[in-house]
Amino acid sequence: MDKILVLDFGGQYNQLIARRVRSNSVYAEIKPYNKITCAEIKSAGYKGIIFTGGPNSVYDEKSPHYSAEILNLGIPILGICYGHQLLSYLAGGEIAAAESGSEYGKTELFTQDCPLFSGVPQKSDCFMSHTDYVKTLPEGFISIAESEKCPNAAICNEQKNLYGVQFHPEVTHTEYGEQILKNFIFGICKCSADWKMDDFIEKSVEKYRTELKGKRVLLALSGGVDSSVAAVLLHKAIGKNLVCVFVDHGLLRKDEGDYVENTIGKNLGVHIIRVNAKERFLKTLSGITDPEKKRHIIGEEFIRTFEAEAKKLGKIDVLAQGTIYPDVIESGKGDSAVIKSHHNVGGLPDIMSFESIVEPLRDLFKDEVRKVGIKLGIPKELVFRQPFPGPGLGVRVIGEITEEKLELLKEADAVFRSKIDKLDFNKRPNQYFAVITDTRSVGVMGDARTYGYTVVLRAVDTDDFMTAEWSRISFDLLQTASSRITNEIKGITRVVYDITSKPPATVEWE
Ligand code: XMP
Repeated sequence: MDKILVLDFGGQYNQLIARRVRSNSVYAEIKPYNKITCAEIKSAGYKGIIFTGGPNSVYDEKSPHYSAEILNLGIPILGICYGHQLLSYLAGGEIAAAESGSEYGKTELFTQDCPLFSGVPQKSDCFMSHTDYVKTLPEGFISIAESEKCPNAAICNEQKNLYGVQFHPEVTHTEYGEQILKNFIFGICKCSADWKMDDFIEKSVEKYRTELKGKRVLLALSGGVDSSVAAVLLHKAIGKNLVCVFVDHGLLRKDEGDYVENTIGKNLGVHIIRVNAKERFLKTLSGITDPEKKRHIIGEEFIRTFEAEAKKLGKIDVLAQGTIYPDVIESGKGDSAVIKSHHNVGGLPDIMSFESIVEPLRDLFKDEVRKVGIKLGIPKELVFRQPFPGPGLGVRVIGEITEEKLELLKEADAVFRSKIDKLDFNKRPNQYFAVITDTRSVGVMGDARTYGYTVVLRAVDTDDFMTAEWSRISFDLLQTASSRITNEIKGITRVVYDITSKPPATVEWE
């Protein structure tokens, strides 16, 4: 399989670059610049290298550098932004602060004929974000594009297949960015488009069937996308030798425990041990109101419950985890094995010793994991489900978690979600749920006075959950959700809609 190395110099778009390459069915992997040597690059057999952008100045001593030897490996290189400047610098060019100031945002680009710009008109728009620029070209290089403020907006040494672009071809604001990346991947690196999800499944199944032969494997199934896909994939490889422990802490959404058990267990044949631990969790959480304490207790109890169940299983050789690619790279640890933290509390206990850990999805992005899930026959509703926090409804019951509040919340949340789920998939907010507050207020029903809880409906639109806008869902939808909740659920007298974005608020209330 042909692959491209995305050599990461700290740019904010490193994941995006890899995804753009992969969307062309060519495998790309990201390595931090200080975690891979020239010799390793050479022996790994990459067909091309992309230097990412980064926030630094090449001439700052502390900025990330790389051995100039990389230019002589005979592997095509495309430098982007900082990567373009670094490439020029390593080749002997001069980088300086742009005399005419920074260039930021949509910028007109004038390109010349060359393999990188094949099919790109002479004038187009690109996205720039830089203060430094390549002032003097390295020997053997020519300028192949310019903008008003940047004379060397793209450069190349065609003979050596070395290219640099000051702009960002990976972002959609660069009109012909996709074409430029395609030109690099296929025209210059001569990659074949052979990274396919079907192949991924087939190869993984083959690999784990051999590697895990005769071994017992344990996986903590949460019912989320990643652990479900990992479970079904491994089940395909090793069948009943995979045991999944599904800790139902009672803080799942209405009917969710049964849904997971039926979908992954009964319908897809995965061996699941479900531990109904609601009472244990509620008991430990009794009287606790501090959100961080709740999170901690839920995480801790989860591990203790998982551990107790695992012990009953006798000898287990291998631990399987649903770690995905962003977990690996976001941890900043490159290719080191990271124990994915369960429910945000530092991983599984040390006392459980395993021969090894398998992470069948560690090379995949979320959208790829979803594709694999669909191909494995996992229902769309599960594969495309909205994110759900590890501590579950525990952080959506404000104040003390009582059984009464929890049950009221489950019902209200189910009503709200059922209304939104009727919308087309692409019209749904990215996350939508209910929260039960600790506030009770007076209501009236018929001629009688009522006194019950206030429920909040929350829905947000976001790309990455780092920032989020409150969703402008229709008043009609809010109206029906509100009347159904107050009419059908005794104990809730008031429904409010949260119109705070993130920042300043967070998505969750606790
Ligand atoms: P916040 O509330 O931080 O949420 O704006 C951003 C995203 O993270 C999810 N979230 C959590 N996920 N454990 C999790 O696994 C947690 O403790 C947790 N807190 C928030 C939240 O649902 C949203 O998608």
